[in-house]
Amino acid sequence: MSNDALLVLDKVCKSFGSVQVIDEATVEVHAGKVSVLLGENGAGKSTLIKMIAGVHEPDAGRILMDGNAVKIPNTKASEALGIATIHQELNLVPSMTIAENITLGRVPRKFGIINRRAMRQIAREAMDKLGLNLDVNTPVGELGLAQQQLVEIAKALSLDARVLILDEPTAALTKAEIAHLFSVVNTLKAQGVGMVFISHHLDEIAEIGDFVNVLRDGKFIATVLADTEENELVRPTLMQPACWP
Ligand SMILES: Nc1ncnc2c1ncn2[C@@H]1O[C@H](COP(=O)(O)OP(=O)(O)O)[C@@H](O)[C@H]1O
Ligand SMILES: [Mg+2]
Repeated sequence: MSNDALLVLDKVCKSFGSVQVIDEATVEVHAGKVSVLLGENGAGKSTLIKMIAGVHEPDAGRILMDGNAVKIPNTKASEALGIATIHQELNLVPSMTIAENITLGRVPRKFGIINRRAMRQIAREAMDKLGLNLDVNTPVGELGLAQQQLVEIAKALSLDARVLILDEPTAALTKAEIAHLFSVVNTLKAQGVGMVFISHHLDEIAEIGDFVNVLRDGKFIATVLADTEENELVRPTLMQPACWP
């Protein structure tokens, strides 16, 4: 294991009842790099990242942040470590504005009164970092899915996340929206954010991935560089061809 990783899942295991979903999986997240998780539906990708997000605790194995073993019993603990997770199911409040969503749980106050100007300022700065030109007074429910995802990423940035986890973020996006998301990912790479990106599309992996962690039935088959030949990735020893759409 290299020791300059921001975050390491070290041989983590997770069972639900008698079913072992994750069996000694190891994933590293590095500053300014994208670690892809690749695997068919049900392989355990979401379960794995939920151990970093504070949704599930591993039954065995360790989680290391900056080389130190940490416990992540809940989402607050995950956020406190500088980890932000964009789940497959988005977590914004549709009736609230972009600014309210971005500052949710840490609304700036002045003399006990909500400081809406400061709130909009925080939101605008976060949106600017991503080159997003949306009115922060817009209710999130009026945005399309891709824009909502970007608002979630903006929220993560305004919390100074060092690790950003994206669980199948491209699944419901158009080609143009994916291109925009990838430019955001590249901006974040340049800012030194370490990312975990779950996907099953080989072309996407080649475009933005640095490392690919191949997962099958909760077991790690291999970690390879993202520029590995496609036929190498789908080789039966790495993946079952059945998982390709
Ligand atoms: N909370 C849970 N309780 C019981 N089984 C679960 C739970 N979450 C996931 N699983 C099971 O674990 C396996 C892996 O699921 P998941 O991590 O969602 O896979 P992926 O994200 O790779 O599609 C599946 O068989 C799923 O049914
Ligand atoms: Mg999943």
